[in-house]
Amino acid sequence: MPTKVILDVDTGTDDAVALMVAALSPDLELIGATTVNGNTAVHNCTENTLRVFDWIGRPEIPVRQGMSRPLARSQATQLNPASRIHGDLLDLPPRGADSRARLQPGHAVDWLIDTLLASDGDITLVPVGPLTNIATAIQKEPAILEKIPEIVIMGGAHDHGNSTASAEFNIWLDPEAARIVVNCGRQIRMIPLDATHRALVSLDDCRALRALGTPAGEAAARFVEKRIDGYDATQPMHRAGAAPVHDALAVCAVIDPTIVTAYFIPVDVETGGELSVGRTVCDFRFRSGRPANVQFAMDADEPKFVAMLTEILGRTA
Ligand code: RIB
Ligand code: CA
Repeated sequence: MPTKVILDVDTGTDDAVALMVAALSPDLELIGATTVNGNTAVHNCTENTLRVFDWIGRPEIPVRQGMSRPLARSQATQLNPASRIHGDLLDLPPRGADSRARLQPGHAVDWLIDTLLASDGDITLVPVGPLTNIATAIQKEPAILEKIPEIVIMGGAHDHGNSTASAEFNIWLDPEAARIVVNCGRQIRMIPLDATHRALVSLDDCRALRALGTPAGEAAARFVEKRIDGYDATQPMHRAGAAPVHDALAVCAVIDPTIVTAYFIPVDVETGGELSVGRTVCDFRFRSGRPANVQFAMDADEPKFVAMLTEILGRTA
């Protein structure tokens, strides 16, 4: 039976690849997508998500728009230094009058609550942007918690941040929301930069994706080439001509948990430090005396990741 998932996205380029993997994988049933302020303003994230579903021929997947600003921080959106990696709107055809992908009525948070409460407790949440929607849903209706079997988060960093020296973007943009979610008591898996930076996709891989001849293969090649350009220019990885596709690794980890190497440890989120706000504090040596609450991934299988992307994005709707 496919695993039921909901993706919470701030669609940028890697969210877009994650959405295509989730929509096309036979191992997943994508119940819907919710958008949140993050890589760009939430209305852009919504338009981008709808463009993706139109492009791959899955316009029926419901999309609802969520929170436009973090829980407690002032900025409406932080166009992070990665803007060259994402931009505001994806390089896909703008939706026209004949577009079948439509924004559904109602706020994303209310839809998350209603959907989870009505479920059999079998929907995995996969947030790959700031955790504002998820935290708001938990605060508004704590009864959803018993209906969430697992939350698989793209976010966090132990060894190094990307928005600051200490913090990864999704956690840094809304640390108060992240702290609520990692301490919610449900099964949490985090796919942080420590894993995603060990699963890079190269220009050669993009040529192979384009050669698939599928809409998803073409779009993924286009998005990852943009990412490689941006990373080589602004956040060089350990090898040029390759970039992480963070959010897609989180979705692949739902499909095959062995694609990452994770450790069950106590993890919390710094919300007060001047230099460390947004840091995922990983207690590998259990110094805090607190119980483990997160499966925190510290490595990833790059060849397996590239092979999964190529196989899944070679499919059509
Ligand atoms: O730090 C990487 C994360 O921030 C990814 O989810 C990317 O899409 C951005 O949201
Ligand atoms: Ca994202």
